[in-house]
Parts: sequence; structure tokens; C-alpha cells
Amino acid sequence: MHPSEEIRGTKTKLLAGKQIILGVTGSIAAVQTIQLSREFIRHGADVIPVMSPAATRIIHPDALYFATGHQPICELSGDTEHVRYCGKTKSPADLYLLCPCTANTLSKIAYGIDDTAVTTFATTALGSNIPLVLVPAMHQSMYDHVIVKQNIDLLRKKGLLFIDPNLESNKAKLASIEMITHETIRLLGNHIYDGTHVLIIGGSSCEPIDTVRCICNTSSGKTALALATTAYHQGAEVELWYGSSQQQVPTFIKDVKRFSSVKDVEEMIQDRDLSTVDLIIVCAALSDYLPEKTNEKIPSEKKELNIICHPAPNILSLIRKKAPQVPLVGFKLESNEKTLIKKAEDLRARHHLTLVVANTTSNLSTEDGSVHLIGEKGQIKKINGTKNDIAMEILCFLHETIHHD
Ligand SMILES: Cc1cc2nc3c(=O)[nH]c(=O)nc-3n(C[C@H](O)[C@H](O)[C@H](O)COP(=O)(O)O)c2cc1C
Repeated sequence: MHPSEEIRGTKTKLLAGKQIILGVTGSIAAVQTIQLSREFIRHGADVIPVMSPAATRIIHPDALYFATGHQPICELSGDTEHVRYCGKTKSPADLYLLCPCTANTLSKIAYGIDDTAVTTFATTALGSNIPLVLVPAMHQSMYDHVIVKQNIDLLRKKGLLFIDPNLESNKAKLASIEMITHETIRLLGNHIYDGTHVLIIGGSSCEPIDTVRCICNTSSGKTALALATTAYHQGAEVELWYGSSQQQVPTFIKDVKRFSSVKDVEEMIQDRDLSTVDLIIVCAALSDYLPEKTNEKIPSEKKELNIICHPAPNILSLIRKKAPQVPLVGFKLESNEKTLIKKAEDLRARHHLTLVVANTTSNLSTEDGSVHLIGEKGQIKKINGTKNDIAMEILCFLHETIHHD
């Protein structure tokens, strides 16, 4: 067994059964293809490397052989490798990812020039309708060159996909490994949320007691990120309103607005035209009570401290009033499993929710968990798994519910 098999599918199975041809050209960013190809394998993919002669001067083919378990194709042979993987065959590759793509190679592809193994694979993939994605990397001066720009525009107009570089420090730097990996998962996903705008409200709230202290809670904010990531993988346009959390929001979730308190969320709802949103999921751990705030720091020497709280405005109710028709999902958290389902059903009925995800406090801050999905037609489904598994089940359940109405 090749050592690369040890890591196959260790992160997710989202790319299991997918074959990705990785075309590597002569950019210094070629060094990142070791990490990138192993990330693809961790998500289950099979990666076949193809290299231009210039790429082999930047990284040795043995490094990609080690990373992928396949000898890189540096020259075509009588085996017609380009046809085997990217021709009109019974089981062609799922994707040709040209990463990093030099100014030279993208310009050659724009004009159908074909003089390396990498460009022959491109010609063959394009003629066979295999998706071709270009991930450019070059010095900013090359990227700004009028003819390179024209060639990129020409390729875009022909329908080729790009994962754009990050323009910083005078360079058009290769997109991050995280961005390339998740764009690839999205491209090869089931697309069940294509064209759907999903608003996710997650993370925890933080309610001020005085000028320096607040009441917060132990929710990790991981469920919102799992839902945002899964919706993105399925083609959604994701908008995330995110409260307090130690978690890093993934770079591919670009439309992120932060909030601190329930009042902030209330104002965000007032200001947002919800008619452009197709689905709203509220999984935030929002405070049910708001403390009366003093405008100075409460002294540290008090013998006893009483904090008076009042019920917070209900965010589900505010959203329902503003957007009566939009599919809306709420979460119900209880410590007692016995009363959980009844309370979740009451919550669903009170706000006309499309779905309530009911869970107990034992799920807080854990990786694995167990929840009940309670649908609008009285369906109850118990699901177990990681937060990502649960997010996928929730989104599939909603997709079926929304599309069967
Ligand atoms: C160390 C080094 C780094 C380079 N980095 C880049 C780069 O990031 N982007 C680019 O377009 N060209 C870069 N080049 C220039 C290309 O290697 C050169 O244009 C070559 O002809 C590309 O051939 P290919 O597109 O067939 O790989 C670099 C060259 C060297 C020697």
C-alpha cells in the first residue's frame, strides 16, 4: 500500500470516488501542491499529477509521487495518458485542476496552443467537457499585463472557471489551500442549493452587565460553521451572522457580519431586506434574558451582587413577522430529554417554523452529537453523527421539505 492511502478520507468522504487531475506548471507556488493534493486525499479523492517541464524544475516529480501515490505524468507516451484520463471515455476524470497556472500556460490555453503534457490535458479536457479550473499564481506585474488580462477574460468568456489569486505584496498569490479545497468540493458536490440564498445566524450572544462584564454562554458556534460550510458545498450563497466564538470562520464564507448582543441581531433584522433570502437558520445561542446594564464598572468589593434581567426579544418571532413565508429553522436546547420533543413542537407551532432541531445540553461544545429533527408535518427524525454529518442531514431534510411543497 502506498503511504498516501493512510490519509485517504481521514477528514471527510466528500470527494470519495472523485478523480482529480492536478496540472502543475512552473510557478513557485508549485511547492504548495504537495499539501493541496494531500488535502484532496484527506477528503477521499484520487489525485493524478501532470507536470510541465518548468514545474519539474521547481519541485521534483518524486515529491508529487509521494504526495499522491501516482507517478506524475511529465511527458505523454504511447499510453496516450491525456485520452485515458480526459478523453471521451466511459469513466473520464471528474475535474482538471490547473494549479498553479502560470501566465504562460493560461495564455497558451486561450489560443489552443498545446506543447506540454499539461496543455495537452487541457485541450483534451475542454473537448470532452470535463470541467477545467484554473488557479493562477504569478507576480503582480505579470497578472497586470494587458495581454495576460485579455487571455484571462477570453477564458472566462468561454466558460472556464477560475479560483482567483489573492492580490497582496505585489503578487497575485495562489488562493489558499482551504479556498481551493472547498471550491473543488463545491464544484464536485450535488448542487442541491444552487441559486439559494441561505442566511445562518450562529455563535453566542454576549449581554453587557456593566462597562466591562457580560453574560455569555458555553456554545462553541461550531454548528453554524458546519451548516455554513455544508450549504456552501451544496452550491448555496451563504450569508453568516456570527456572534462570539473561538472558531475561525472559513475564508470561503465571505459574507460574514458579526454581532455581539441580541439587540445587535434585532437591529440587523430591521435593516435587512429579507425578501432576497430563501432560507433562514437560527442556531445561535442567544440570551433569553437581558441584564439591566449600569453605565460604569460595578465595584469589585461588594459583599453580594444581584443582577436583574428581563426577557429578551424573541428573534424567531421578529423574523417571522418580517418574513412570514420564508422557510425558517429554529433550534431548541433543553437539559431534560423527556420534555425536549414537546417543547420543540410547541416552538415550531408558535413561530410556524419549517423545522426545529431539538438537542440537549450534552451536545454543547462536542464534536459528535445526537439531535431530533421535527418537521412541519409532524415528522420526527433522530440523527447521530459529527456536526458536519448533522448539518448535511438538516440541509437534505430541508431541501426535500421545501421542494415537495
Ligand atoms: C523560480 C521561478 C518561479 C516562477 N514563478 C512563476 C509564477 O509564479 N507564475 C508564472 O506565471 N511564472 C513563473 N515563472 C516563470 C515560468 O516558469 C515560465 O514562464 C515558464 O516558461 C512556464 O512554463 P509552463 O507554463 O509550461 O510551466 C517562474 C520561474 C521560476 C524560475
